[in-house]
Amino acid sequence: MNVPVKIVTNGMKIPTIGLGTWQATSETEIESALNTALECGYRHIDTAYAYQNEEIIGRVLKNWFTSGKLKREEVFITTKLPIFGVHEDRVEMFMDRSLKNLGLKYVDIYLIHFPIGSNFVENGEVPLNQLIPERTDHIEIWKKMEEQVDAGKAKFIGVSNFNERQIEKIWNNCRIKPACQQIELQVFLQQPKLVNYCHEKNIAVVAYSPLASPKYNNFMADLGVEIKDLPNVFTNPIIREVAEKHKKTNAQIALRYLIDMGTIPIPKSVSPLRIRENFEVFDFSLDADDMKKLKNLDLGEPGRICDCNFLKRFEDHPEWPFPKSNQ
Ligand SMILES: NC(=O)c1ccc[n+]([C@@H]2O[C@H](COP(=O)([O-])OP(=O)(O)OC[C@H]3O[C@@H](n4cnc5c(N)ncnc54)[C@H](OP(=O)(O)O)[C@@H]3O)[C@@H](O)[C@H]2O)c1
Repeated sequence: MNVPVKIVTNGMKIPTIGLGTWQATSETEIESALNTALECGYRHIDTAYAYQNEEIIGRVLKNWFTSGKLKREEVFITTKLPIFGVHEDRVEMFMDRSLKNLGLKYVDIYLIHFPIGSNFVENGEVPLNQLIPERTDHIEIWKKMEEQVDAGKAKFIGVSNFNERQIEKIWNNCRIKPACQQIELQVFLQQPKLVNYCHEKNIAVVAYSPLASPKYNNFMADLGVEIKDLPNVFTNPIIREVAEKHKKTNAQIALRYLIDMGTIPIPKSVSPLRIRENFEVFDFSLDADDMKKLKNLDLGEPGRICDCNFLKRFEDHPEWPFPKSNQ
C-alpha cells in the first residue's frame, strides 16, 4: 500500500504515518522493526542523535538501498539536534555527526529537539536530569539550521517541543520557514490551539507519543525521577467502544484520530505484529460521532505525559516551552 503524503510549507512531502524509534536501541530489535516497517509500507522514520540508534538505522537503510529494494528519495528520514547541541556553535557539528551515523548524504528534515540548549556533553555521558541549561538564542541557531539546507545536508528544517511564541519568532525572522513542528499529541493531550496555529501556517504537525507512551515510566524510573499515573489508550472504555464498532484495535483508533486531525503520528514499536497493526489505519473511517467522543477525551495539560520534568534545572529558563503548573 502507498502511504498517503501531506504537502506542507516549502513543498515538503511527508508520509502521514511514521515509525518512532525512541527507546529502541537493540540492534536485532531495530533491524527487524525497520525491515518489517519498510516491507509493510512505512516510508517515514523518526530518529534523533540522542536516541543512540542512528548507526543501526543507517545500516539497515543501506541494505535496502544497495539491494535496490528502495531508493533514497522514497523514504523520509527525520533526525534531531540534541539538547546539548542547541547552540549556534554546535549545529553543524551535530548535523555532520548524524549524517555520518546514518550513512546518508542528507536527511529529509532536521529538527531542533528542544527549545533550550544545555552544556556540551557527549551522548549518554551524563543522565539527562543532570544537564545544565544555557543561554539559547533561537534566531542565531536557526541561521545555522538554514545553512544545513544551503549545504544540502537537510532538505527541510523544523522544530520540536516549541510553543507558539517561539515558532512565531523564528517565522518572522528567518530566510527558510520551519516545515514541521513535532510535539506530544495523543487523545488525552490534543493541543488544539497549537495545532491550529501550525496548520494555518501550513507547518506539518508530527504527533509524538501518539499511543500515550505506555513505557514512559520506565524511562523516568531509569533516571530515578518520580513516576506518575498515565492515561492509557489500550484500556480506555470510550476508545474500546469505537474500536469495537469498527472491528479495529484501540491503537488503530487512537492513530486514525490523529490522522483525521490532519496530524502525522509516529508510533514506536519493535514488535512486527504491532508495527503492522499500527499501519493498518487507512481502510476505515471515523464518523462525526466517533470524532466527538474522541475529542472529549482531551484532558488538556494534565494529559501531558512527556512533560520533561526530569529537566529540573530547565524549568525557570525563559525558553521553557510548556505551561507551568500555576498557569
Ligand atoms: N521530539 C520529542 O521530544 C519526542 C519525544 C518522545 C517521542 N518522540 C518520538 O515519537 C515516537 C513515539 O513516541 P513514544 O515512543 O514516546 O510512544 P508511543 O509511540 O506512544 O508508544 C510506544 C509504546 O507503545 C507500545 N506499542 C506500540 N504499538 C502498540 C500497539 N499497537 N499495541 C500495544 N502497544 C503498542 C510500544 O511497545 P513495543 O515496542 O513493545 O511494541 C512502546 O512501548 C518515539 O519513538 C520518538 O521517535 C519524540
